[in-house]
Amino acid sequence: MPMSIDTPLTGLLGIRHPILLAPMDVVAGARLTLAVTNAGGFGILGGGYGEKAWLEQEIGKLKQQPQAPFGVGFITWSLARQPELLDVALNAQPRAVMLSFGDPKPFASRIKAGGALLICQIQNEDMAQEALDAGADILVAQGTEAGGHGASRTTIDIVPAIVDLAAGRVPVVAAGGIADGRGLAAMMMLGAAGVLLGTRFYASEESDGAEEAKKRICAAKSGSTTRGIIFDMSRNNVWPAPFTGRCLINDHVRRWTDRELELLQNVKKVAAEYAAATAAGNFDIAAVIAGDAVGLIHDIPKAAEIVDRMVTEADQIILGRRNSSAALRSKEICADTLIT
Ligand SMILES: Cc1cc2nc3c(=O)[nH]c(=O)nc-3n(C[C@H](O)[C@H](O)[C@H](O)COP(=O)(O)O)c2cc1C
Repeated sequence: MPMSIDTPLTGLLGIRHPILLAPMDVVAGARLTLAVTNAGGFGILGGGYGEKAWLEQEIGKLKQQPQAPFGVGFITWSLARQPELLDVALNAQPRAVMLSFGDPKPFASRIKAGGALLICQIQNEDMAQEALDAGADILVAQGTEAGGHGASRTTIDIVPAIVDLAAGRVPVVAAGGIADGRGLAAMMMLGAAGVLLGTRFYASEESDGAEEAKKRICAAKSGSTTRGIIFDMSRNNVWPAPFTGRCLINDHVRRWTDRELELLQNVKKVAAEYAAATAAGNFDIAAVIAGDAVGLIHDIPKAAEIVDRMVTEADQIILGRRNSSAALRSKEICADTLIT
């Protein structure tokens, strides 16, 4: 078992490693949530757009292991259309509720009254301030490299900007393009208290993603994803600005890139074709929703192995850095001694 990396995030959530599972719609079910939690991270169930029967079923599975801490994540603008789903989540006494993509204020007091921490995923400073004003306990600063929906700022830009804005009041978690221990160590150097991973856990044994989609993530090279509105338009799923979606570049994306207006004019036909492809698992047309981290992902291990590898690698990097600065300091002392 690797050493634990303690941060303000691990203390607040009561977990061993500062690694959070992103609440991925369709992909992050109870099995993956428990697998990440049991590995010492923090599993967050992907409540997504909110399907009551699915949510109740998956929460039922989580309750079979009553001691395991977990979170439930929602797409905020979608939750606003069926706010009663928050009660389904809160009745299960999650340690945290994560809200992404929209104003968290209408839900914040219910979440806190229900005894859960409020995690807010944000993409710029205004959203971060809105989340802090609503009482967020943890901020997830998401860069454009992220799989799924997001905005335009890069992870290396947004993470330190939000760390500065939060000024130690709440832990900041980095998301977008992180898939190994180098990413975890780098984000900690930028001031993050942990990381939230989507794409890396998608390609894990316990994820509910289609096996073919997992294989495509493993085969994809760096630079083979794109952010845009084609897959959302094709499934009649219009998102509010400024959010767009990142997925693997496939035949469908190549066909419609720079022809979005034409897609809109033919949306009925395209949507029927897209729905049929989704049902058939044809990922030349249906999107594999994934982020820039695909270039770092080459296998489909158990979630626990992903966590172990990341922590071991990050720990070695951080320890190596400490050792080399200690060596440097002792060299400086020697040099000083020589001079004096
Ligand atoms: C397949 C997939 C589905 C996602 N669905 C959601 C979602 O329903 N709600 C949400 O808050 N974020 C969702 N995200 C975004 C994640 O919360 C997170 O920001 C992202 O996965 C981090 O970047 P990474 O994929 O490079 O690790 C999704 C990401 C992926 C890859």
